[in-house]
Amino acid sequence: MSSKQTLLILEEDPTCQRMLRDTLKELANPIIATPSSLGTLDLAPGMKPDLIILGIHAFGFIGYELCEKFRLNSDLRTSKIILSSTQWSPEERQKSYEAGADDYWIKPLLQEEILAKGRLLLNDAQAQKNTAPLLKAQAHLTYTAQMKALGEMAGGIAHEINTPLNTLLLSSEQIESLIQEGPIPLEALKQLTQTMNRNISRVSGIIQALQTFCKDSTYEPLTLIPAQQLIQKTLDLCSERLKAKDIKIQVEIPNPQLKLQCQATQITQLLLHLITNARDAVQFMKDKWIHIEVTQKDHFIEISVTDSGSPIPKEIHYKLFHPFFTTKEIGQGSGLGLSISKGIAEMHNGELKIDREFKNTRFVLKIPMNQKNCPLERV
Ligand SMILES: Nc1ncnc2c1ncn2[C@@H]1O[C@H](COP(=O)(O)OP(=O)(O)OP(=O)(O)O)[C@@H](O)[C@H]1O
Ligand SMILES: [Mg+2]
Repeated sequence: MSSKQTLLILEEDPTCQRMLRDTLKELANPIIATPSSLGTLDLAPGMKPDLIILGIHAFGFIGYELCEKFRLNSDLRTSKIILSSTQWSPEERQKSYEAGADDYWIKPLLQEEILAKGRLLLNDAQAQKNTAPLLKAQAHLTYTAQMKALGEMAGGIAHEINTPLNTLLLSSEQIESLIQEGPIPLEALKQLTQTMNRNISRVSGIIQALQTFCKDSTYEPLTLIPAQQLIQKTLDLCSERLKAKDIKIQVEIPNPQLKLQCQATQITQLLLHLITNARDAVQFMKDKWIHIEVTQKDHFIEISVTDSGSPIPKEIHYKLFHPFFTTKEIGQGSGLGLSISKGIAEMHNGELKIDREFKNTRFVLKIPMNQKNCPLERV
């Protein structure tokens, strides 16, 4: 444990204050804010304490409100917060977690208990501090890979947009000849304009997906997005490329109401990595297909990407997610797609795995539908 760790105690009851300070001084440098020194509240962000112990009724605030304020302050995002009170109803406990507290204490506490919980949370705070630079580096790597994927997509995008543009051109030429032939058959005109509208929407969908994808999505906020929309956004960016290689793409979402809370662009990127790998694996096969399925398992959403390729040999499974592992020709693959995808899954409190038992190659992404206490918000 680092001796530099700081502890801020915001407690109104002087006996409790003293007891906390005396017990915890062997773990950290405790700083007490007495009820009369309200200024300490403003000081808290500057101090960046590793641990804050917050009496539920401190400074006339209700502890949850204060806790929420702290959580919104970027300087206190990595601080661990304990709310303490003499009694906790189940609703209050729930509220304390919703406000962003890491734990709650029931007073009076035994010294051993204070020490054990304090040590645990201070260790957690230290671990989080240690991983922060790694998370930043990972975020940078993800963005670099995103740009690389974009470069690879560029050719494909031209194709994605060209197909609907050609249809538009064809339809407008047909309208022109109908005008010249006159009188205009209304039914034919209606069908042509419908085709045109569909294709205009398609182009605008592709451009929208591209615009979102170009942004650095590392710090993108979490959004609640229908699974169907997420898959559609992903396919908007690659379906023409797959069609060009005669790869059939099949999507199965038994429950169209399914929604998930995620950084949508990051998950799109993850799915694009899986689809690109699947495309590379099946492109020269006779039977080429990719199957995407979205299902709900308890509080998790599972998105599987299966391709018609035979399963990847079990001996190399353990290496698949290692950075820079690739079986592709030099210049074809950097071996980063799966490791970055795994990172994105983990940032969403989820996991990305290969289905070891399936008869084809199948990767499964599992993420919680709700991202409460997600590490994403603390990057
Ligand atoms: N669907 C798949 N079918 C067969 N092998 C796969 C599949 N997905 C991944 N692999 C194997 O896993 C390796 C690592 O994949 P990963 O996406 O990390 O890197 P890459 O595709 O080689 O390069 P990059 O994604 O950086 O362009 C691939 O080189 C390939 O051997
Ligand atoms: Mg790849």
